[in-house]
Amino acid sequence: MVRAVRWENDELIFLDQTQLPVEVVEEKQESIKQVWQSINTLKVRGAPAIGIAAAYGLLLGVRDKLELPCRDFLAELDRQAEYLGTSRPTAVNLSWALKRMTSVAGGLDTKDTRQIYNCLLEEAVRIHEEDRRLCRSIGEHGAALIRKGTGVLTHCNAGSLATSELGTATAPMYLAHEQGIDFRVYVDETRPLLQGARLTSWELQRAGIDVTLITDNMAAYVMSKGLVDLVLVGADRVAANGDVANKIGTMGVAILAKHFKIPFYVASPSSTVDLATKKGEDIEIEERGDEEVTHFGLRRTGPEGIKVRNPAFDVTPHELVTGILTERGIIYPPYEKSLKAFK
Ligand code: MRU
Repeated sequence: MVRAVRWENDELIFLDQTQLPVEVVEEKQESIKQVWQSINTLKVRGAPAIGIAAAYGLLLGVRDKLELPCRDFLAELDRQAEYLGTSRPTAVNLSWALKRMTSVAGGLDTKDTRQIYNCLLEEAVRIHEEDRRLCRSIGEHGAALIRKGTGVLTHCNAGSLATSELGTATAPMYLAHEQGIDFRVYVDETRPLLQGARLTSWELQRAGIDVTLITDNMAAYVMSKGLVDLVLVGADRVAANGDVANKIGTMGVAILAKHFKIPFYVASPSSTVDLATKKGEDIEIEERGDEEVTHFGLRRTGPEGIKVRNPAFDVTPHELVTGILTERGIIYPPYEKSLKAFK
């Protein structure tokens, strides 16, 4: 399986996802500033992977500060965590992982900064390992959704590249494939940054899964032809009422699924559920640069000076979500109640 993030021999390495599928290139991260850039420019992306990357990234920000007195070291840790937290606003896993890191450090009964650093490293590894287990459990609970002949449609990339191993939305697909179940997957290309085309179809194809790439505007067509029995997507943040922020275009897919009476499931580990956010409207939606819309790759496709909107995510209202697939099973409406019990 591909590894989006690696910590090896005290080095932090990201697979540069902006180069896929043409080149498989890894990039060593030298500083917290570089990690900020890598998250912001989507070299590493996908909610859980961003959290994991930030946890390790924070280590780069403080490892040359071990000479500071403990209080100053902890203040520096908080400052660096706050900085890294500004790299992208929508996926809650980023602030969730950073909070875990600073809380662990703050709760230690020692003034030895080296010891604090070692505990921070252990916590980052724990976040990484936990994600691996969460994804597998999501897969185990979701595999029953996929039977012989099932047509699955997914949007963006909630796969290995977005997590630490099996992905979230893709975990049931990987496990069903492992069990020899014959099913097919349709992948929306996911304009503007093409995570579906460049990443999801790449990783599913490598795994030997029957995958068909479509442009976003073909989803209604394939659904109307009876080719889709199940929609399975990931999430960047699930609000307390079950509203789901995910890659721009997800809400449209959910509306189509309702029209064609196709179940629409969201795969989300507990790290993506944010009870502090009451409803979707309260989620900050990242707005990205105009050139992602005015250009297709390096080629200009919109006129100079055109007005552009480029929200990177949208919010699917909970009424459109059939179920939320978590590491402890599928959660059903009413979400306010079921999510509270889950967390
Ligand atoms: O902008 P991206 O590529 O980080 O957006 C990713 C998504 O929207 C994923 O569906 C989501 O983070 C879930 S990843 C398991």
